[in-house]
Amino acid sequence: VNDTLSTNQRTNAWYDRFAAFYDAALDGMYAAHRMRAIEALGVAPNMTVVDVGCGTGATLPLLRAAVGENGRVIGVDASAGMLRKAEALVRRRDFHNVELLQVGTEATSIAAIASRVGRVDRVLCFLSLSVIDPWQLVLNGWLDVLPEGGALTIADVHNPRPGPYARLVELIARATLARKSWEPLQQRTTNFQLEWEPSSWFLGGAFFLATGTVDGSQRAY
Ligand SMILES: C[S@@+](CC[C@H](N)C(=O)[O-])C[C@H]1O[C@@H](n2cnc3c(N)ncnc32)[C@H](O)[C@@H]1O
Repeated sequence: VNDTLSTNQRTNAWYDRFAAFYDAALDGMYAAHRMRAIEALGVAPNMTVVDVGCGTGATLPLLRAAVGENGRVIGVDASAGMLRKAEALVRRRDFHNVELLQVGTEATSIAAIASRVGRVDRVLCFLSLSVIDPWQLVLNGWLDVLPEGGALTIADVHNPRPGPYARLVELIARATLARKSWEPLQQRTTNFQLEWEPSSWFLGGAFFLATGTVDGSQRAY
């Protein structure tokens, strides 16, 4: 049966199960990185922020704190199992302005979500573009949605030549660490900033933060 499943279906099926132990495995590892990503993205009160591949919602409370009572946070993910965890977190914390949406992997789903959500000011892709397939389509899709002055941050792990340990990380996360997801962001945005964390081998590669701002003159891509 597995042979007939697409990569996306297999990734979803894995994350549906991974949801049970995801937080226990990753919680401490990325706490500081999440804060730094939100700072790099420039999330401010009253903004609408999308968390692409929000998973169990580990970044949602920080995003909610940054946009405040009158902002909006939209978490999107493909895995129902991960979203159930995120929903429980949102209920526990009584976040009335945090919405969760299940996305399909087809190209049309981003435009459909965007028309439902309305104006989006910031987009965060935290450990998601290394997993999402096809990641270019999703990155470009969200850049298309951002208005002039809107910004997108990619926070992820890169390894040009994964060794045995990194391959284990790739297997557990269903990730491809050799992707250079910052490159199309750099091409399509202004004020591009790329920051590397040198000593993060235990993450499977080097952690990076890439941020760019959408400029009206680059719209016709
Ligand atoms: C490594 S987890 C990261 C979760 C979360 N951002 C975090 O920092 O903990 C990758 C997430 O990407 C989600 N994902 C995979 N393919 C996706 C797609 N096509 N669209 C949206 N999310 C997707 C997975 O379900 C999973 O929750």
